Amino acid sequence: MSAKIIDGKEFAARVRAQVKDHVTRLVNDHGITPGLAVVLVGEDPASQVYVRSKGKATHEAGMKSVEHKLDIDTSEKDLLALIDQLNNDATIHGILVQLPLPKHLNEDLVINAIDPAKDVDGFHISNVGLLGTGQKSMVPCTPLGCLMMLRDHHGSLSGLNAVVVGRSNIVGKPMAQLLLGDSCTVTIAHSRTKDLPEVVRGADIVVAAVGRAEMVPGDWIKPGATVIDVGINRIDAHEKGEGKTRLVGDVDFASAAKVAGAITPVPGGVGPMTIACLLANTVTACSRANGLEEPEGLTA
Ligand code: GUN
Repeated sequence: MSAKIIDGKEFAARVRAQVKDHVTRLVNDHGITPGLAVVLVGEDPASQVYVRSKGKATHEAGMKSVEHKLDIDTSEKDLLALIDQLNNDATIHGILVQLPLPKHLNEDLVINAIDPAKDVDGFHISNVGLLGTGQKSMVPCTPLGCLMMLRDHHGSLSGLNAVVVGRSNIVGKPMAQLLLGDSCTVTIAHSRTKDLPEVVRGADIVVAAVGRAEMVPGDWIKPGATVIDVGINRIDAHEKGEGKTRLVGDVDFASAAKVAGAITPVPGGVGPMTIACLLANTVTACSRANGLEEPEGLTA
């Protein structure tokens, strides 16, 4: 068997087109332009790349994009003052503080200072609680993207066995909540899980989000299962004569693709969906803030 490759780039382009349509309607019918503010503290090169591509994608969707680049030694007081200003700015519907923050800043405190209605990352404790209790919330972008791809592939997820490998607050835990919300039987596996291969072999859906290169081999995968690989790991590829480094997921793609029914590649799988879902969350937040209909298919 050879798995269907779930093309995240193509899927993300579809989501972004839907977002753009909704933005056009908000602008033309209501005179409202959704606005996203991204806050970056310091000069971490990877964060700078992310922030730039978020800004570009926001513009391309027809939304207002604002970037706040703060000095690495910005005080907590000044950062909180900026968040307060953005919370009270009616032209801003989404606020994202790029993580990680410099060590002297308390991430929890900063994230929880964002108005939950503008928390397009879905990291605020209120949104975590709302998601956990099955209420309307802002949903973290990466798990939302995974859910969209799973719904598109399966139609209904009801009754399927889902194993999420990884228990992070950003991916593993919200992913498990979303799958439970779609009536999957959910297991969260992690580094202490006993007989992990056997646990994964029971899954109709595997979501790998551990951050360990090619950790899940094909012989852990149930034939025909759907495999969503959230990992992005840069490995040394010298020995294989493939140049200096290459990007791989948490799943060993070559062996898993022989067994799975469908699989996301790395790169070009979950990655492009994360920014698409950030745009989706911004347009959702804007619609809710104005008491308007939410974009269909772009929320959990
Ligand atoms: N840094 C890496 N990924 C993310 C993300 O999804 N949101 C934020 N705010 N920071 C990040």
